[in-house]
Amino acid sequence: MRAVTVCPGVADSLRLVEDHPEPLPEEGAILVEALAVGICGTDHEIIAGGYGEAPPGADRLVLGHESLGRVLEDPSGTLQPGDLVAGVVRHPDPVPCPNCAVGEWDMCRNGRFTEHGIKALPGFARDRWRLPPRFAVGLDRSLAPVGMLLEPTSVVAKAWEHIERIGGRAEWQPRTVLVTGAGPIGLLAALLATQRGLAVHVLDRNTTGPKPGLVRALGATYHTGSVCDLDFEPDVVLECTGAPVVVLDVMYKVAPTGIVCLTGVSSGGRTIDLDAGALNRALVLENNVVFGSVNANRRHWDLAAAALARADPSWLDALITRRVPVEAYTEAYTPEPDDIKVVLEFGS
Ligand code: BGC
Repeated sequence: MRAVTVCPGVADSLRLVEDHPEPLPEEGAILVEALAVGICGTDHEIIAGGYGEAPPGADRLVLGHESLGRVLEDPSGTLQPGDLVAGVVRHPDPVPCPNCAVGEWDMCRNGRFTEHGIKALPGFARDRWRLPPRFAVGLDRSLAPVGMLLEPTSVVAKAWEHIERIGGRAEWQPRTVLVTGAGPIGLLAALLATQRGLAVHVLDRNTTGPKPGLVRALGATYHTGSVCDLDFEPDVVLECTGAPVVVLDVMYKVAPTGIVCLTGVSSGGRTIDLDAGALNRALVLENNVVFGSVNANRRHWDLAAAALARADPSWLDALITRRVPVEAYTEAYTPEPDDIKVVLEFGS
């Protein structure tokens, strides 16, 4: 069968392997036929050789962690043949640490977790894959065109859950949210903010292309330019760019008792001048919280499925700016200026 693979650590080793072995029964009882995978910045970083790890004993890693497939067989009876399904990306570490032991693998403490298509587990960019039932998330059939958005939505569902838990440390009535970055994570974070009835502002550097219209279609306000120039102080910030200047600016900009959730994975290596004392003073005197958030556990995947089911299907569909058949896989992994989410399609 076909599989999109890389040699982790080796730049530009992306290949479509035509004779990849069928998934092993040890991978899980549920056999799935791939429909599509979404492509994100992590895939690009792996392709550039800067991230990623092959499964033990293998040279190559199958890419793809934003999955959508159709169940072929499920002897466990959890799902029915024909059901739509997505695979949870992260699996708990083998020890397991206290968090992995209770299913909170997104908060793994020893780093020995594995991730499909990223770290030591084969990804979903192959014709067929298998899953254990607890890592298989069933999707409503109406989500067939956009179900591969479930994974990035699970990431923002976790971010929102943690924002709300942190907010619960005191009386908290947030009204204004700033999302920095109108990529897939930023737009989905904004969607979940509007579902909470908050006033949503999205800041991005693009002045043209589909992003301004997608933000306005949510009933949110689109901004370009610098965070410092915004004429309001947000109660919550979801930072989705990872751009160092933006990261620092939102820490200063957030309102008293505000919460900044960092979701962007920066590449590192660039230094900027910073008055650490002034930043510390600003955070302390305003009871601000800045925290990082990555990945998602099963609870967040279920929250994400509910959020997608409540969203406007045509808005979700518009996030997918290119759909590329697997035969033309190199095009899918070559970024284009107006891309939001690019999807690699396997089946009909
Ligand atoms: C994925 C997460 C993963 C992270 C780090 C992101 O692209 O969405 O599930 O934990 O990369 O590997």
